[in-house]
Amino acid sequence: MSDTERDVEYWPGFHGRVEYDESPLSEDEAALLRDLGAAGTTRRDFLKVLAAAGISLSAAQLLTGCGSSARQTTAGALGGTAGGIETSPVSLKVNGQTHQLDLDSRVSLLDALREKLNLTGTKKGCDHGQCGACTVLVGGERVLSCLTLAAQAEGEEIVTIEGLAHGDDLHPMQAAFIKHDGFQCGYCTPGQLMSGVACIKEGHAKTDGDIREWMSGNLCRCGAYPNIVAAIRQVEKSGFKS
Ligand code: FES
Ligand code: FES
Repeated sequence: MSDTERDVEYWPGFHGRVEYDESPLSEDEAALLRDLGAAGTTRRDFLKVLAAAGISLSAAQLLTGCGSSARQTTAGALGGTAGGIETSPVSLKVNGQTHQLDLDSRVSLLDALREKLNLTGTKKGCDHGQCGACTVLVGGERVLSCLTLAAQAEGEEIVTIEGLAHGDDLHPMQAAFIKHDGFQCGYCTPGQLMSGVACIKEGHAKTDGDIREWMSGNLCRCGAYPNIVAAIRQVEKSGFKS
């Protein structure tokens, strides 16, 4: 088979000949090839490199049409460890300690706590704002960290379950949960504790009915609800505020 024959292929089901395009590259196409660290002088070379890099023709057209800044973004993304995701510096103050992080702006507070700061006490249940397992305090108020962007919590005091006790001294809510058997498997417990603390601070723990209402966003698959209510009532009655 001659070189020419090798350079000509038949597309399955296409009744005509497809020939590789040997026309020279445009300036933008040549620049994109250079950014990708590849060599070549023809559109055929260009298409081969795109296929190897997993870039569609339409994306390439977009890139070559958008000038060098777009190329830089994509070339950096392909070669960088961030996998094409732009990150921003975010400062999070968690349990009294400030952390400087570089985060994708879409990262939830829950993922930042668990994946970046290794604070895995805060649990991921549904990741959709429906179970309360991820409850933490931000600026003194309870929030669902799975529905809160990490960047939204910048500059706020964040308290997680790891920050509830003072050294070896359990928080009164933790002690009350133990006393009243407020948990079984314990998966929902960090969220229940954080929510219980906030519930008292909000003044929503005066009666069992109030507690049931205002703790209704925290689900417990083990059904420890009566014991959780009893624990929160005890802490509220003790006069503890926050
Ligand atoms: Fe956030 Fe379920 S994990 S509400
Ligand atoms: Fe098991 Fe609540 S203690 S889910």
